[in-house]
Amino acid sequence: MRVVRTVAELRELVAAARSGGARVGFVPTMGFFHEGHLSLMRRARADTDLVVVSLFVNPAQFGPGEDLDAYPRDEERDCRLAEGEGVDVLFTPPVEAIYPDGFASTVAVRGVTETLEGAASQRGAVHFDGVTTVVTKLFNMVEPDMAYFGQKDAQQALVIRKLVRDLDIPVQIEVCPTIRDADGLALSSRNAYLSPDERERALALSRALRAAEAAVAAGTREAAAVVAVAQEELDRAGVEPDYLQLRSVTDLSPVERVNGSTLLAVAARVGPARLIDNAILGDDQ
Ligand code: PAJ
Repeated sequence: MRVVRTVAELRELVAAARSGGARVGFVPTMGFFHEGHLSLMRRARADTDLVVVSLFVNPAQFGPGEDLDAYPRDEERDCRLAEGEGVDVLFTPPVEAIYPDGFASTVAVRGVTETLEGAASQRGAVHFDGVTTVVTKLFNMVEPDMAYFGQKDAQQALVIRKLVRDLDIPVQIEVCPTIRDADGLALSSRNAYLSPDERERALALSRALRAAEAAVAAGTREAAAVVAVAQEELDRAGVEPDYLQLRSVTDLSPVERVNGSTLLAVAARVGPARLIDNAILGDDQ
């Protein structure tokens, strides 16, 4: 595995592989790898010939009060793990390589970025502007055939799909299932912030989603009733959600009833960590 810090070297490696006919798979990340990240690398390894992973903690997607400085980092361990998955190139640029002096451009997707994670009461749409700007830059640097994202960040995946469609970026987006610990907790780099007690309370998020799934399987359709079942699980653990909402999987608009695939999205602060999770309900009808 080559560890690369400059855009020039990255382009050179990708161009050499591509001239030999290689298909390029790309996994953008902010590092501190867990099985969720590794599952994306594995998919890329299975589908494509040259696997590029980026590791860049993107300052532009963190709000003023957010955890940019505290965000967990362990580059040595990440290198080992990526190498173990057969990654060919780990691109880990310094901030100046992505945002050089005088950087003044923003790529913004509207319509699906002002709600849930992007609501003014949460992180604001500028969070997603940071994501879409850096992902566009990374796509331009790597020029991948395929790029892999996790369903864990359902809204982000939707925003990226819209970005590449709207701007005709020639890359195929694959969204891969959420990887969970055996007890149901969705893996997240931010789980590193949780004490054992907080981790126990954090389980309420996945429990709430499972309870909602069970209610839908048992025939409940009205959004308010489904949400109430999930809310009960959060209440039991004393977890106050930032949001707990049923939304259309295609455009995130609120829904009154579960009717075909519907996204149940939850976010909550547990101790120092802000956690998100989601489930697709009603896709078996
Ligand atoms: P990061 O949080 O490091 O996540 C990188 C990728 O891993 C994202 O596509 C995310 O959805 C996926 N992922 C995280 N946890 C997962 C889990 N438990 N199961 C499956 N996939 C999981 O998301 C970002 O970084 C950044 O916003 C980024 C896209 C890199 C832009 O900076």
